[in-house]
Amino acid sequence: MDLHNEAVKIREAAAQAIEACRTIEDIEAARVKYIGRKGELTLLLRKLGEAPPESRKEIGRILNEIKDEITERLKSRRSEIEQAHRSEALARETIDVTLPGRRPRLGKLHPTLRVLEEIVNVFVGLGFKAVEGPEIETEYNNFDALNFPPWHPSRDDFDSFYVADGFVLRTHTSPAQIRVMKSQDPPVRVVVPGRCYRRDTPDASHLMSFFQIEGLYVDHDVSLADLKGTLAIFAREVFGPETKIRFRPHYFPFTEPSAELDISCLVCGGRGCRLCKNSGWLEVLGCGMVHPNVFKHVGYDHKAVTGFAFGLGVERIAMLKYGIGDIRTLYENDIKMLSHL
Ligand code: PHE
Repeated sequence: MDLHNEAVKIREAAAQAIEACRTIEDIEAARVKYIGRKGELTLLLRKLGEAPPESRKEIGRILNEIKDEITERLKSRRSEIEQAHRSEALARETIDVTLPGRRPRLGKLHPTLRVLEEIVNVFVGLGFKAVEGPEIETEYNNFDALNFPPWHPSRDDFDSFYVADGFVLRTHTSPAQIRVMKSQDPPVRVVVPGRCYRRDTPDASHLMSFFQIEGLYVDHDVSLADLKGTLAIFAREVFGPETKIRFRPHYFPFTEPSAELDISCLVCGGRGCRLCKNSGWLEVLGCGMVHPNVFKHVGYDHKAVTGFAFGLGVERIAMLKYGIGDIRTLYENDIKMLSHL
């Protein structure tokens, strides 16, 4: 068979094979088979020298034309395959914009934070400034400067978290009183919200970590009447205009006299029910007149100034406001429960 005939056969076979290619790998295989280094047409071209000299030039031209044609076919089939791949991928990745979207769930403030902000705002409205103090406190600020005697039981390892020699996780916000008074002269009128820590075993009314808001007012002639008037406004703002208050004598090392503030029961209004254990009253916070020894520690003239202080548990007030029986439910991250509050 002569070179020309063979070349025509290869041309036909290659055309069919290229048409049948489905993938880029098929194209590559066809290229190798026909025009690769040992491809069928390449081998034919090498035999060109065997052709009779008078027709060599003509056959060479034809073989090269066929090679060009095969190259061209490979190229165009390759781009067809690539185009098909691209359309397929596009079809696969189309987004159905008519599908209804997934609505992001809107969060809201945690009840503890809501109540905390509400209370702080009441006092800000009365002219108090909101400040903060650190959660890791010196033992001195947390206890000594607040007139706790060295033997006071709440200093025990058993009751407080000691983080290093001389440092505790504050057991109340009262050490902020010391920081504020050491940093400025009277008059002082601040509220200090923040997290506190005690080594309590969690139960329905205790957690190891909870929020308090401290209040401190120091000036010339601040009296117990000012304390009572201020807390009466707080109680009416937070618990409703009908709320009555009473002071019950108590003891704190850093106030003298000291008291606990009760409000008339939110459920029965004072007649007596299960919530108030038939007393008609609910305990809300601790307070009193700043002890002269505290003034001495911060360098205030205890003969020239007087002041009142109070400290309240934010969760306790949130529980009363929202009728929550167990403090732990606030921190179980139960969204169903929290979104009801
Ligand atoms: N720090 C006290 C407590 O945690 C509360 C308190 C604050 C009492 C200020 C009197 C004055 O129990």
